[in-house]
Amino acid sequence: MQSILVTGGAGYIGSHACKMLRAAGFNPVCYDNFSKGWEAAVKFGPLVRGDVRDRAALAEAMKTHDIAAVMHFAALSEVGVSTQDPGSYYENNVFGSLQLARAMVDAGVDKIVFSSTCAVYGESDGALLTEESQKQPINPYGRTKLMVEMILGDMHAAHGLKSHVMRYFNVAGADEEGEIGEHHIPETHLIPLVLDAASGRREAIKIFGTDYATPDGTCIRDYIHVMDLIDAHIASLKAMLSGADCDVFNLGTGTGFSVREIIDGAAAVTGLNIVRHEEDRRPGDPAFLVSGATKAAEVLNWTPHRSVINQVIGDAWRWHQKGGYPTTT
Ligand code: UFG
Repeated sequence: MQSILVTGGAGYIGSHACKMLRAAGFNPVCYDNFSKGWEAAVKFGPLVRGDVRDRAALAEAMKTHDIAAVMHFAALSEVGVSTQDPGSYYENNVFGSLQLARAMVDAGVDKIVFSSTCAVYGESDGALLTEESQKQPINPYGRTKLMVEMILGDMHAAHGLKSHVMRYFNVAGADEEGEIGEHHIPETHLIPLVLDAASGRREAIKIFGTDYATPDGTCIRDYIHVMDLIDAHIASLKAMLSGADCDVFNLGTGTGFSVREIIDGAAAVTGLNIVRHEEDRRPGDPAFLVSGATKAAEVLNWTPHRSVINQVIGDAWRWHQKGGYPTTT
């Protein structure tokens, strides 16, 4: 069984990767510092407690566990927070990823699937985004991920480190079996917050900006089910293990939903009333981010079949009703 180092394996997306890697016949080695992750989410393979900024600890973990490839999720990922605290974003995301890439070279591990973002593109003026679209990130978070993409390109040229760069659109939903899901403190993402407002855990959902140049004035995003997202990662991993070279993929569905449409969708799925308050724009938010790419479908034979908005919201709702992870961990 091949071992895959999963940085951030105790977090939302990383824990789904661990579960699905295990189901696909790999040994997922979770590497996490628990700044955002949950011990209760680590149950699909070994755990190494460590920080991605610690190059020596990373190299040691790779040697100890005979790592064949890395999936790199450990990062700070909130667009709004990145505008207020860019230093933490550059330190964790850029320096941390550089340390990881250097540790991989030290340990002789030459394959990485990297968690990037559609935030590398910036404003799209309503156009669907392909991998070739112009990259002009409008927030520090997007800039950190674009910098890491460049670092990985240079590490490939110099050291033969192969990467598949996965540019995510808005990841949502939860494990279809309800075993793991999204749990952030504080929560900043739209769908879990809307569900908090539906269940009464929160009084209302705030709509950040109603004057965007979109049909209903609110931001439009492309919501991808977390399990579909990981399907693409596993397809990429298998391709690289079979000799595929560097590549980059947009992971989205091609369909956008406005903030108001998500709230209406959640009201329909839950059957509950959701109170909404209209607020000012949140800094760093582009109006429209929707994938127009079909490359992942063609090259990886990938179909995001769970990414129907009712299933995305429904799986998130099922997880939400379980109350998340125990907060003592
Ligand atoms: N929003 C609200 N109210 C809220 C929270 C969010 O109106 O209480 C809006 C945001 O302003 C945005 C949309 O809902 O227009 C989605 O916001 P999220 O915070 O859920 O997601 P983001 O689009 O900001 O960011 C997410 C990930 C990033 C990723 C990005 C790509 O957090 O890592 O998607 O779009 F890069």
